[in-house]
Amino acid sequence: LASTEVDLSAIQPGQAIKTTFRSQPLFVRQLTEKEIAEADKVDASTLRDPQTLEERTVDGKKQWLVTMGVCTHLGCVPLGAGEGENKGEYGGYFCPCHGSSYDTAARIRKGPAPKNLEVPKFSFTSDTAILVG
Ligand code: FES
Repeated sequence: LASTEVDLSAIQPGQAIKTTFRSQPLFVRQLTEKEIAEADKVDASTLRDPQTLEERTVDGKKQWLVTMGVCTHLGCVPLGAGEGENKGEYGGYFCPCHGSSYDTAARIRKGPAPKNLEVPKFSFTSDTAILVG
């Protein structure tokens, strides 16, 4: 199966882009310091799908959040990876189909979705590029 290279150089802190990986939406987001702090202050053991931001990102580069853009409820594409889009009440992504809200680590916080947005296998090929898949 094909891998996808994503150029990170134009993604500013606080911005997310929507691209595709294996014909599915992929979100790539550079978190701000505030968004990282918000994710870190949550006790992960209290979450529906318990994971820390560290577990969902690469060592030393936890500002780069790479997830599938596919809601884990019934597969809609959540909002939040475009200009002015609704990020939901937890500041990450919001699925308008049935109201699932994801936080700044794209972890499910409210609504019917059972799991966090999936983090695909990826690695950095330089400071400003990743290879997904
Ligand atoms: Fe996202 Fe139902 S598909 S909340």
